[in-house]
Order: sequence, then C-alpha cells, then structure tokens
Amino acid sequence: MRVVLIGPPGSGKGTQAVRIAAQFGAEHISAGDALRTEIAAGSELGLRARDYLSRGDLVPDDLVVELLWHRIVAAARAGGYVLDGFPRTVEQAEAAYRMAVEAGVTAHAAVYLAGDTQALVGRLLARAHVDGRVDDTAEVISHRLEVYARQTAPLADYYAQRGLLITIDAMLTPDEVTAAIIAALDQLPA
Ligand code: AP5
Repeated sequence: MRVVLIGPPGSGKGTQAVRIAAQFGAEHISAGDALRTEIAAGSELGLRARDYLSRGDLVPDDLVVELLWHRIVAAARAGGYVLDGFPRTVEQAEAAYRMAVEAGVTAHAAVYLAGDTQALVGRLLARAHVDGRVDDTAEVISHRLEVYARQTAPLADYYAQRGLLITIDAMLTPDEVTAAIIAALDQLPA
C-alpha cells in the first residue's frame, strides 16, 4: 500500500501514519522527523533546514526531496509507504509524481485529515508540555497554520483531481480516525 497523508499541523498525521503503516506492512516516512533527525545530528542538510523549522516555514523543496526520495522508493519496493508531511506543496507533489511514475511507485491514495483549527491549536499546545518541540509555541503554531493554508491546503484539490483523495474527520478519537482510514483504504481496488 502506498499512501500520502495530508492535513494541517496537529491533525494527527504522525499518530495515524504509524498505525496505517503497521496495518498494511508499509514504512512510515515522516518528513518532519527526518528533518529533526538531521538537525539533531548537525548534518549540513540539518544546518540548512534548522531555521525554517524553528520559524514554522517550509524548508526548500530540493532539501526535502534529497532527504526522502531514495527512502520512499526503497520503501515502495519493500512493502509500501505511508508518507507523513510530504508532499507539502503542489510543486512537491508534481515533482514527486513525475519521479514516482518513472520509478513505478505512484500513490494509491491521499488521505486528508480535516480538522477544526482551534482544536488543533489546543492539541499542539498540549503536546508542547510533553515533547518540547521548538515549533509548538503559540506564535509558531499560528504561523504554521497560515503556511499550511497558503501552501499545503491546495494539495487536497490536486489529489481530488487525480481521483486519489479520501477525506477523514480528524476530530474523531484517534481509534475512530484509524478505523475510518483503514475502512476507506480497504475499499480501494486491489
Ligand atoms: P511536521 O513534523 O510534519 O509537522 P506538522 O505538519 O506541523 O505536523 P505535526 O507533527 O505538528 O502534527 P501531526 O498532524 O503529525 O499530528 P500528530 O499526530 O503529531 O513538520 C514540521 C516542520 O518540518 C514544518 O513546519 C516544516 O518546517 C518542515 N517540513 C516538514 N515536511 C516538509 C516538506 N515536505 N517540505 C518542506 N518543509 C517540511 O498529533 C498532534 C498532537 O495531537 C499529539 O499530541 C497527538 O497525540 C494528538 N492527537 C492526534 N490525533 C488526535 C485525535 N484524533 N484526538 C486528540 N488528539 C490527537
């Protein structure tokens, strides 16, 4: 199974990606986690990405593609992927689609987790006490939501036009969201 998860900050992409990957024997690939790992390691890519993450801006497309693309293709060939946070712009999606067609690894579905903004802010502020992510402050969360609305939200239409979009209510409990995603993916043609 090859799935792309999209949705605003706090909509549950990471939470659900782990579960969906386990269910379908696929690899969970998180763009944000991969970037944070590079930053923690102090790699050249991490140094280039660090300020974008702390401000809540998207890092340049070429950095993300360089970081993730080989891993995505390898996962697709091993048992599938669940992408969490990539693609994040229509430009990234178009570039990824061109490369995926060439490699024979295009996505089967794009799951869009739709959530209420105020509730999402509450989730992220609560997580700040637990995880201490530098971008989980009120100011940066607000900027991430603006960046999402401007740069990422158009992806829903992009995937709808490709006939891949599955919309799920992210305001349900985590278990209900998981069940809804699995039910929708189970209905895809084999
Ligand atoms: P990233 O790490 O992807 O952050 P994000 O999109 O802002 O998403 P979050 O991790 O905050 O939320 P989530 O939707 O995964 O929800 P989660 O499951 O964690 O990206 C960080 C940064 O990296 C970006 O700002 C950018 O700088 C850079 N970046 C990443 N990808 C990029 C790309 N492709 N191009 C350029 N730059 C990129 O849940 C959140 C909280 O809510 C948790 O505490 C969880 O327990 C809780 N929760 C989850 N589901 C529920 C539920 N159903 N009910 C109640 N609580 C819930």
